[in-house]
Amino acid sequence: MKDLYEFGVAGLAVMGGNLARNLANHGFRVAVWNRGWEKTEALLARAPEAGFGAFRTPEEFVGALARPRKIILMVQAGAAVDACIAGFLPYLEPGDIVMDGGNSHYPDTVRRCRELAEKGIRFLGVGISGGEEGALNGPSIMPGGDESAWPEVAPCLQTIAAHVDGVPCCDWIGPEGAGHYVKMVHNGIEYADMELIAEAYAFLRDGLKLDNEAMGRIFERWNAGALAGYLMEITAKIFRKADPEGTGLLLDRILDAPGQKGTGRWTGVAALETGTPAAAIADAVFQRFLNADVEFRRRGGELLPAGTVAAPVDVESAVADLERALYAAKICVYAQGFALLKAAEKEFRWPLNYGGIALLWRGGCIIRARFLNDINAAYRRNPALENLLFDEFFRDELAANLPGFRRCTAAGALAGVPMPAVAGALAYYDSCRAQRSSGNLIQAQRDFFGAHRFERVDRPRGETFHAEWM
Ligand code: 6PG
Repeated sequence: MKDLYEFGVAGLAVMGGNLARNLANHGFRVAVWNRGWEKTEALLARAPEAGFGAFRTPEEFVGALARPRKIILMVQAGAAVDACIAGFLPYLEPGDIVMDGGNSHYPDTVRRCRELAEKGIRFLGVGISGGEEGALNGPSIMPGGDESAWPEVAPCLQTIAAHVDGVPCCDWIGPEGAGHYVKMVHNGIEYADMELIAEAYAFLRDGLKLDNEAMGRIFERWNAGALAGYLMEITAKIFRKADPEGTGLLLDRILDAPGQKGTGRWTGVAALETGTPAAAIADAVFQRFLNADVEFRRRGGELLPAGTVAAPVDVESAVADLERALYAAKICVYAQGFALLKAAEKEFRWPLNYGGIALLWRGGCIIRARFLNDINAAYRRNPALENLLFDEFFRDELAANLPGFRRCTAAGALAGVPMPAVAGALAYYDSCRAQRSSGNLIQAQRDFFGAHRFERVDRPRGETFHAEWM
């Protein structure tokens, strides 16, 4: 019995391999398995000190684990997860714990949880963020699913997670697909955060005509203030990286055709499905699609006039306004992300701890940023906060930055620099504070062409009317 392994890692591509090494580095006895042997061999060669038990077949792998077995799947989201589970199932026993550490779509996790519960297997959908480096040295971990399994895997997952101020960036999220849902929202925020930064870059480069060196200095300075975070930090570094092929700076040689694997799109779809306004996140996804179509934009550049409006520009104050706009827009983006979490609570009845989720994102993950402490504080002040924008701290922060936010959005529009996430965030802010929106006109139009009826401001809610418009 003594020789059995405490933890099994299945799937040994870079993320899986690094997570296995992270576990071993913390003293856990780890068994590993991969569908093909080459990856296993490569991992054993890379980390001979880890003392992995390496197995060629699911039967040997599962058999080598102490009961209840704890297996984490680090395989590609989708069919590979189901195939892996099917391969292990004949050898698993009731009470065993299977975790999916990939970027799975949360409805798949809900389904797997239910299917496996019928067989007595406890399933967890575990969102893991932080890329290769995080997997090895401490990721942010978002586990959800069968809660009875949590106390059994918590010591392990919390040990290997990133820690900030001694607090592990790993805690229980909620039932069924909650962990993967929260990871999906993390990625949606990641898309919007990246898009905001990219829009700032476009404004600095094309609106203010600054060079990479100047932009690097600006991002470095911003990273020392309220915007401090991992994405700002790496952006400052990107501006300084030389092209290994010796042509100058690498950034200038990278094709402006961004890729995406789909988690941002899922977040946009979830926003539409739950009726949650999260346009800055959706815009970030749309911009990736639009920017990816290089040929289309090339034709557009030839066909479409710019019609820009020259306006006097003082570079220093424009940069200061841009910083204010970025910060204010970031607050709006996170307000949208947390609104999506709230939507899940309502839709799926997953009780979520918003302040706790902000803590998990302070370290290890891609969106880690100083500002998450403020979000945590907001939800500590009021766990039932209706919208992050309504928190007193964020209201004050927005108030202080709004004039710059507006000036910057206008400056981008006048200069013809596309900044949909910045502008959309401002529109979101103004929409959230609209005492009388333009929705009355929409209702009039709907009633006009389709007799869809409307409510009146001077009658109780729910009572509806139709007018003879012609
Ligand atoms: C993370 C990242 C990670 C990843 C995604 C995003 O949290 O570690 O979000 O999951 O980099 O694959 O990738 P795309 O930009 O390709 O969608």
